[in-house]
Amino acid sequence: MGGSKEEVAVAEGNPLQQVESAREAFEREFERFARFIVPGNDTTGLSLKDAEAEQRAIAELRTKHLGKKSAIAAAKKLIGKVPADERALFGQSVQEAEAQISESVAQVEKGLKARIESARIERDSLDVTIPGRRARPGHLHPITLMRQRIEDIFVSLGYAVEDDREIETDFYNFDALNIPEGHPARDPQDTFYTTQGFALRSQTSTVQIHAMQRRGAPVRMIAPGRVFRRDTPDPTHNPMFYQVEGLCVDRGITMAHLKGTLAEFVHRLFGPDTKTRFRPSYFPFTEPSAEVDYSCFNCGGEGCRICKWSGWIELGGSGMVHPNVLRAANIDPEEFTGFAFGLGIDRTCARIYQLDDIRLLFENDVRFLEQFR
Ligand code: DAH
Repeated sequence: MGGSKEEVAVAEGNPLQQVESAREAFEREFERFARFIVPGNDTTGLSLKDAEAEQRAIAELRTKHLGKKSAIAAAKKLIGKVPADERALFGQSVQEAEAQISESVAQVEKGLKARIESARIERDSLDVTIPGRRARPGHLHPITLMRQRIEDIFVSLGYAVEDDREIETDFYNFDALNIPEGHPARDPQDTFYTTQGFALRSQTSTVQIHAMQRRGAPVRMIAPGRVFRRDTPDPTHNPMFYQVEGLCVDRGITMAHLKGTLAEFVHRLFGPDTKTRFRPSYFPFTEPSAEVDYSCFNCGGEGCRICKWSGWIELGGSGMVHPNVLRAANIDPEEFTGFAFGLGIDRTCARIYQLDDIRLLFENDVRFLEQFR
């Protein structure tokens, strides 16, 4: 069967029949909504979205069967046209049909409205009895902790902390540090170059030059930071690692100041019984140069696994600043002298925490890092 228009036409000759057909047409389409009728409204399991869709569908059904273009509306217009003796009966049947359709639709709308309201409440409700999510406080990375301990010691000795660039020119990374082009000292510090002539610094010694240029002399500073080298990662090497540079330039600075400073440093870091040992070495930017060791914090020099049974652990390189380096930073080596040193932060960190593999410090696996708060 088709829509209402067709039925109006079909029933043209018999007005009562027309009303009956309209009622039947409505009933057929209304059937599927019957379960939402109040009482006995079965909207359980209807989602908010579905309930809203049904609400729109039932509104459409009302318009279709009671609206201006409906069969019932057409029948109403006929009331005045039917013969007078049939008019009362016909009028009554139209009214009844209209009332019945209207009531059915209203019942369904009531059921759906109740479901929509409860579904909205469900959606918007906040269960204040659910336990909260515990905030997991983070903590500093062990390298940062180590760096801060080192900074604290030197700051208390009157040093400034310099934080300088990681991308450098050849001048700061090599030439100004008395490592001219072709010098063999460039080889072990091969780094990563850009095509524009920049490179990732291979040592924090670059900051010696920047600091002297910026501050002039006298100057006392440390420069913790990242450095980069063309290295294949293994348990003791990583292409990116941390150093802290130290520089002290003033009138009358001698090797004794260097030794006293580093001795004080290891006392504060590892305890007052820690001893230092200076071994002759070579660095292009210092003359004389020395490698510095400290007595093992674990065995006190007896020999253990941590110090590889030698009793000593290497701290880093040091020496008296080469006159060429002072000159490169426009400081007169006749007037000023200085000492410098460079220590490995992550290397020291790995020793203290007894890590067998330095790469663990850079993988950032929280299960590992969590152990060092
Ligand atoms: N820059 C050196 C390196 O990376 C370490 C170093 C040695 C720094 C001696 C210094 C120093 O300031 O005096 O191997």
